[in-house]
This record gives sequence, C-alpha cells and structure tokens, in this order.
Amino acid sequence: MQARTWHLGDAHQSLVLASLGDCLPEAVYWGPALPERESYQSLAAAAVTDVTGGMVDRNAPISLNPEASQTFPGQSGLTGRDADGNPLTPRFRFSNETTSEHGLTLVYADTDLELSLVLDLSMDPETSLLQMQTHLESAHKITVDWLAAPVLPVPAHMGEMIEYSGRWCAEFLTRRLPFAPGARVRDNRTGRTDHAHFPALIVCSSQTSNTSGEAYAYHYGWSGGHRMVAEELADGRRQVQFGHASASMKKNHVFRTAPLFATYSGTGFNGAAVRFQKYVRNKLVSGARMPRPVHYNCWEAVYFDHKLDELKSIASRAADLGAERFVLDDGWFGQRDDDTSSLGDWVVDKRKYPDGLKPLIDHVKSLGLQFGIWFEPEMINEDSDLFRAHSEWVLGSADQPKGRQQLVLDMSRDDVRDYLYDCIAKVLAENDIGYIKWDHNRVLPVVDAAQTEGLYALIDRLRADFPHVEIESCASGGGRVDFGILKRTHRVWLSDSNDALERQRIQHDASLFLPASVTGSHVGPRVSHTSGRTINAKFRAWTAAQRHMGFEMDPRELSDEEAEVLKTVTGWWKANRDWMATADILRLDSADPALFAEQQLAEDGDRFVVFAALVRPSNQILQYPLRLTGLDRNALYRITLINRADATGLSRGSPFLKNNDLEASGQYLMSHGLTLPWRFPETIWVLEAKRI
Ligand code: DGJ
Repeated sequence: MQARTWHLGDAHQSLVLASLGDCLPEAVYWGPALPERESYQSLAAAAVTDVTGGMVDRNAPISLNPEASQTFPGQSGLTGRDADGNPLTPRFRFSNETTSEHGLTLVYADTDLELSLVLDLSMDPETSLLQMQTHLESAHKITVDWLAAPVLPVPAHMGEMIEYSGRWCAEFLTRRLPFAPGARVRDNRTGRTDHAHFPALIVCSSQTSNTSGEAYAYHYGWSGGHRMVAEELADGRRQVQFGHASASMKKNHVFRTAPLFATYSGTGFNGAAVRFQKYVRNKLVSGARMPRPVHYNCWEAVYFDHKLDELKSIASRAADLGAERFVLDDGWFGQRDDDTSSLGDWVVDKRKYPDGLKPLIDHVKSLGLQFGIWFEPEMINEDSDLFRAHSEWVLGSADQPKGRQQLVLDMSRDDVRDYLYDCIAKVLAENDIGYIKWDHNRVLPVVDAAQTEGLYALIDRLRADFPHVEIESCASGGGRVDFGILKRTHRVWLSDSNDALERQRIQHDASLFLPASVTGSHVGPRVSHTSGRTINAKFRAWTAAQRHMGFEMDPRELSDEEAEVLKTVTGWWKANRDWMATADILRLDSADPALFAEQQLAEDGDRFVVFAALVRPSNQILQYPLRLTGLDRNALYRITLINRADATGLSRGSPFLKNNDLEASGQYLMSHGLTLPWRFPETIWVLEAKRI
C-alpha cells in the first residue's frame, strides 16, 4: 500500500513523516539531512517493526499523537473526557492537508466523536528550528487533561537526556540522566514557567559534548507550566512529549498546545544552542533597542526606601559608570514600604514622590539615560485599595496560603485585564518611560492556562499601544523565562543571584537556549545580597559583560578602584556590543569542572571573544589548554589576552599569551587549544581574536 509521506528539511536535518492508509502519521526518520534521491516511500516501508510474543499483532506507531485506541503501549498524546466524564479514546483518520514551502498542516478527524485534530509543523529556513503545535476541536464541550504537541520518537542510540531543574537564585540547573524503561514525567504545577522547570530537554548520547556528537533539543514555548514525558516503552522505542501542565485547561470546545521548538544537531549541544539563540534574536524578540543600553537597576541599592535625592545621586553615579538606562524598581506606588502592601494600587506614592515621578525622570533624562519602571501587574495585596474594592478578583480559594504576602489576580477576567491596562497605560502615558520590568513573585494557587492567556492578552495590548516600551520578564529572577514570554518581551532577568560565581553557572547553562542580547546580567554589590560572598570587581564586571550588561549595586559603595574597573569593562562592552549582540555563544568543553568557558563568535566568523572563568581552584596545578570551536580550520587568527595585566605574581613563567599576541590556525586552536597563564580562582581571562 502506498504511504502518505511528508518531508521537512534543510542542510542540517530531515524529518520524514509517513502514514499507512488514513492513520495519524509517525516520524519514520529524524536526523542528519537525507540525500535528495532518498525515497520516502521506502523509508515508510522500512519503518515497520516486527511483532513477537507479548505484543499485539500490529504495533501502534509513535504517531504525532499516539492513540490509546490503537493499543499504544505508552503514554498517549491525548487524555480527555466527554461531557458525562467517560474517557475519550479517539481514532483519528486523515481529513485534509495544506503544505507550504517550509511547513504543513495536517487535519485528522474522528467523525463518531466529532473531534478534529490539527497538527502544524514547520521548519524555519533561517534557523533550522522545527516548530510544532497541536490543536483539538470538539463539537461538544469536553475536558482535556492532556494534549501533546506533535510527538516525535527519539532514536535508540541516544541513551541520555539532559533536563532542567533549579530554584530561586539557582535557575537552569542541568542534570544528565539515562533513559530507562518507563516514563520520566515532569509536571510543573506552579502555574508559571518557574525556576525549577525551564521547559526544555536535550536528548543525546553519552558521548555528546558541547562541541561534538548528536543531540535532539526541545523547548516548549509556554509561560503557564508544562508537562514533559520522556518514555522508553517495553519494546525499546522512545518518545518525547510536551504540552501544558496536566489538567490546566478548562472544559471547552477548542484546545491548543503552545509551540514546541525542536532541532537535531550533529555538532554537539552548541549546534542546537546557536539555532535557539538565533531564533530568539532574529525571529522571536521584536523592537528591542539597539545597541542594547547598559542597564542600572536600583533594587539592591535602596529596596523599598525611595528618597528622591538619593535616587538622583545614584542615577548620576550610574551614568558616570556608563549606564544608559535607569530602572526604578519596587516601592514607588501605593504605600509600598515593604512587601506586605499595595500591589494593585499602581498610583505614584505622593509621600515619596510629592511631585510625581517627573522630577526623577527629568533628572535621569538630563543624564542621557532612558527611564524604566517596575510593575507586578498580576498580583494583589490584601492591604490594598484594590483588594478592598474588588476582593472577588482574586484567583483561588479564600483560605489559600499567600506567597510573599500576596495573592494573585484572575487574569482570565476582562475587568481585571482592563483595570491593569488602564493603570499601566496611565503611568506610561503621563511619564517619559521606555521600559517596564514586569515581575511575578509567587506561584499560582491554581494551575490554569487561562491565567497565562490573560497575561499574554494584556501584554499584547500594551505592546500594541506603547510600541516604544521595552519589557523585561522577571519572576523572582528567572521564574518566567520561555519563548512564550520572549515573544512579547525583550529581556529576561535570569536570576536574583547577583553573585557572579553563581551567575557564571546559570548563564552558561541558559545559553543552551538563550542569546546574550536578551539575557540580563548585572554587576552586583561587593558582598552579594543573596549569598553573602565577597567577590572582586573584575570578576563581577566581566561576568556581566558576557550578557546584556547592567549594574545593580549602590554605586556610592564603590571604591575608586572598583569604579575604574567598572568603567573600563563597560567601555569595552560598549565598544563590542554591536557585533556581540548577533554573536553565537559557543560553550567550550573542558575537563576542568572549575572552569566555565565560552566563545562568542561573530556572525561572519571573523572575530570572537573567549571568556574563561575559573570559579574555584582547579585540582591540577596548570590550566588545561583551552580548546576553541567553530573556527575555520584553515584560517589564521590573531589572539590577544586583553586583561593580561591582571596576571598575578604567582604566575612566574612566561606562557606566550602573557606577553604576546598569538597567531595560530583554527585547526591548532580547536585541536590543541590555548595555553593560558596560571591565575587565582575567581578570575576571568578574556581573549579577543580576529581572523587574519
Ligand atoms: C523580585 C525581583 O526578582 C527583584 O529583582 C526585585 O524586582 C523584587 N522582586 C522587587 O520586589
């Protein structure tokens, strides 16, 4: 029998879908690009597996939505109930298809149950990212507990997976696990993306490294909490599913997953990472101010203690250090002297700002800085005028525990969204404001996709009416970082940890999906407010310079020497930010776990910078040679250790880079690597290079 086949592909990868008869299609191939002469019919025929004892007589495929009705022996792609509460086990049959140059939409129907399943798949020709989304429609109101974005099998030779966990001040923790029989399920019940659940997975082999080997990387672009299933069936086949957190969609006629982004890389984790980074830079984020302005945020300088004269003086000092944007954080509205009150009352506090925000904004603008302001729109304190007027706007039960003393507004309500729109629009219309830091400091009392849809609608409306205003997504640091929010915002506050040693690890692991241009990184106080650790100014400054740079300490605490360091590094960042904003972050492999090293490679490959941070003493005396990546093996590069003056007296020898620039081929740099001077822990070597 002729199979129906479809192909999405480019020079990097091919995805071949096939189905026999009217069944839902399955991916019969996903991997390195296939030659043009390949017959997809043959691949469809070759994909049929044998059956033996203990199996049904025809193995149900890992289709784009594996069906329980086909005796699929694992987690199905849809779990739902009809109006009477009976389980729905649809049998979908082909209805129609639409194909375009880079995408396809496949429609399947179960006419008995009056359900239709729409599967959208496309491959972005610029970044080679697959984007896949499932959409279910029912003639009757039904309950859907689980709907997977299009499901792809994982090849058997990929035996490991890397998943993300984390916590406040330690986001993006990665963990490498072996596949094993059964399902590994991550079901995020917090109602937001959350510190502990960055919605991504990388499937790889034990050999895959940053720079070599195969990897399949996935990201679910949704801010309301996701569910991930990575399952090995008893027959040995493996599948990966992503969708909204279970049971988070209300009874309805229409259900839609968020887009699942995925890609195959034959060049290690970096091969996938640069595609996600590029997609965010070039496709997802729109309207970000370029060049990216150096940020100043006053939170860790003053907290809730806003005094106009002090803030003016802080802004002046920040400007002197090189800041180009000043963000007024929490504490400017209602009677917000601590975190027990006023969320919801988005009116300037006349006790702190008797003449409104204008005097501060005028001062900031006179220094040449843009003015930004903090909001936490989705939240409400019991001690607020808003709560006194509209306690019925609160999401969840009356006796729920609060989080950071606050409750959550029901964002699915039109009146709530209108109220928030009016408050925020008024502040934006009455003041010269170019930036919002949009915070979200607690998990939700109920897991409800409508909450996230309401949030998206509010931001979309504000973006349409205030297109010049940039938005930063923050949720106690990196609690809401995902492609759903990044479609609507311009920057993420990656973590509340301004401890640069922690930050090195967090931003290193986040770069598997995020480019530098959207990743906020601030020079924090000398003694970190979240870890109590004292960190030298150079380490703090260079760590921030690896991403979208900013400051978040009280500049009045800086010694002259520290201020000089900050000015110098900020000057360097400004001189390089144009090309770095479109550079790829390539993580470098090292056998030394004390080293976090990355190479930011310009789009044209003609220049790069290497940051090699030693976060603790190494076990061996000398540094291992640092092997680079992504270079033209035949080209020659001239490399300068730009902060060689920082070499300590304990470095008694004369490694070449300590006193000279090195000219070497891409092949040498990638195979042998750089021999760097000995240094103390908590230092960063910075190397600039140009193709000769
Ligand atoms: C949590 C954020 O992550 C901080 O940066 C700061 O904005 C506070 N909230 C303000 O309450």
